Amino acid sequence: MRNVALVVLALIVASLGVASAAPAGRVTVLCSPNPAWCDAVKAEFPKATGLQVDFVRLSSGEALARLRAERQNPSFDVWFGGTGDPHIVANEEGLTEFIRPAAWNDLRQEFREAVAGKYIPLYAGILGWALNERLLQEKNLPVPRTWKDIADPRYRGLIAYPNPNTSGTGYTMLATLVQIYGEKAAFDLLKAIHKNVAEYTRSGAAPGQLAGRGEVAVGITFIHDAVDQVLKGFPITYNAPSDGTGYEIGGLSLVKATPNRANALAFINWALTPAAQGLAASDGQSYQIPSNSKTPVPSTSPRFQAFKVIKYDFVKYGTASVRDGLVKKWTTEVFPLPK
Ligand code: G6P
Repeated sequence: MRNVALVVLALIVASLGVASAAPAGRVTVLCSPNPAWCDAVKAEFPKATGLQVDFVRLSSGEALARLRAERQNPSFDVWFGGTGDPHIVANEEGLTEFIRPAAWNDLRQEFREAVAGKYIPLYAGILGWALNERLLQEKNLPVPRTWKDIADPRYRGLIAYPNPNTSGTGYTMLATLVQIYGEKAAFDLLKAIHKNVAEYTRSGAAPGQLAGRGEVAVGITFIHDAVDQVLKGFPITYNAPSDGTGYEIGGLSLVKATPNRANALAFINWALTPAAQGLAASDGQSYQIPSNSKTPVPSTSPRFQAFKVIKYDFVKYGTASVRDGLVKKWTTEVFPLPK
């Protein structure tokens, strides 16, 4: 009898121990979407789990460079958001590890298949343009319709394009043109567009902001980032080129060498719940299509059916040799050209 009482006592003590140990701790997140979404995550994750979040916002290409530099001793546990191509590279290079999250079966099948288990899909967004039509009218210029249109010299000084070295948006445009036109014609087009570029930006959202402020007429950006500018009252419209456009499947990855794996997994599982995904549009000023099929698609999200979206080959253009090769070619053959 006395033994039974001791066992019961031991079980009670053990369960108290587990209960009090579970909520302690932090997660450090490399956050690549709009900073407002990172802030919303920082505010809400502790309420759901008792864990705190620290984050650093870096564009997709910068984030990959940081993970590569910190391979032996990572300061991040999870990489949240950003275009998928560097998530694939990170997986290929052993910087991140693919795991099946709790919500795996609820994630949109077309997203899961498109990225072939290289990373966890977090959202999708369509590449396009933020257009300042007032500025175009002032300059007596028509609204461009195709990628070739924005290579026309009459748009000189009127375009902003995110640098594909730092920005996943910029790389998505580069890979999109290669997929539509083939590498040779795509680079000829990029060289002509280069002459019209007023500014290469570090992040993918910045060109839409420049168009909103009237500094350029065409900001190459994800269309949902242009929606953000419209909702903030800036005088822009948005569209995607009628000769076809690419898209992103934003990523979520576990940093492989993190010693903080349990908390990292708790973050990943929370980030894929409909409640967490709903934060993007409610507080995070981010209007992508959420990956969880149970998360309502915001009414403000640009829809795939409205644009001519190509069958983008994420696996090929996320392969390190292909991605690094195209970025290097752009950096040496396009970027230094005189304007
Ligand atoms: C914005 C978009 C995201 C995208 C990200 C890529 O924040 O809203 O959908 O994944 O840009 O950022 P980057 O700066 O790497 O182009």
